[in-house]
Amino acid sequence: MEMELTDDTFWKFSRFVKQNAGINLHEGKRELLKARLGKILRERNIASFEQYYNMVAKDDSGEELRILLDAISTNHTYFFRESDHFSFLKDKVIEILDGSGVRRKEVRIWSAGCSSGEEPYSIAITLFEAMRSNKRDFDFRILGTDISTKVLEIASRGVYEEEKVKDVPSELKVRYFQKGINRWEGYVRVKRQLRDRVHFRRLNFMEDFFFKKPFHFIFLRNVMIYFDNSTKEILVGKICRFLEKNGYLIIGHSESLTGVKHELRYIRPSIFQKK
Ligand SMILES: C[S@@+](CC[C@H](N)C(=O)[O-])C[C@H]1O[C@@H](n2cnc3c(N)ncnc32)[C@H](O)[C@@H]1O
Repeated sequence: MEMELTDDTFWKFSRFVKQNAGINLHEGKRELLKARLGKILRERNIASFEQYYNMVAKDDSGEELRILLDAISTNHTYFFRESDHFSFLKDKVIEILDGSGVRRKEVRIWSAGCSSGEEPYSIAITLFEAMRSNKRDFDFRILGTDISTKVLEIASRGVYEEEKVKDVPSELKVRYFQKGINRWEGYVRVKRQLRDRVHFRRLNFMEDFFFKKPFHFIFLRNVMIYFDNSTKEILVGKICRFLEKNGYLIIGHSESLTGVKHELRYIRPSIFQKK
């Protein structure tokens, strides 16, 4: 028999998720929540949505919150998504290196809301390609963060179904991916060269966070679609504290900062620069 998700319980979940992850579960997300949480209830033999809500709300360890967020977050991503951002990065990285801001010639990039790693690895490939085409060497580090530990595990392993790289140009595939053999037939793994440059850690935008050194580029793409304007404003403010002067913030093409107060210079749709 199908379990009932009452109005009252739906809004309790909605408020809880907004408060803890910034994600806006409006009425239109009700069926999604019901389907995703229904699966957890069945797997764990929990009698009702209300009982599950109480379990999550009472748990101080953060573990129940983690499971809940893993179930409801949308992690869709792919290699070289919104490819013009990677062309922009390739062009600008040399400019940034030649500017006065880069100490010891190290470029630091944050892929914020990196999901299963396709975005930070695409950034790493772009930077190696920038070195090749400019015939110069530089150091770089990429940090990938996400709220979901499930996607971060995939990201750190760097193993993907071959299907996921079908649109990656074949010369890049040869250069940066290893084809699986035997039981790994049908899979590819990003080469160590890339894995060594990309580090992953869990980070919830709604919590306090701190980095010792600011970043030259921050990719915050397709994350704020779930946030309302006041949440976006707080997040952009928090994130920009960790952007170098003249560094770039890149957001998704379907997102905007219209109606969000910030102190960035508008460069073009989806790209902003710290003054
Ligand atoms: C749709 S994916 C975007 C992946 C990648 N940036 C891209 O554009 O392809 C959005 C990611 O944001 C993460 N996310 C959502 N809310 C978050 C929060 N409060 N803190 C950190 N990450 C969050 C989700 O777990 C998800 O992996």
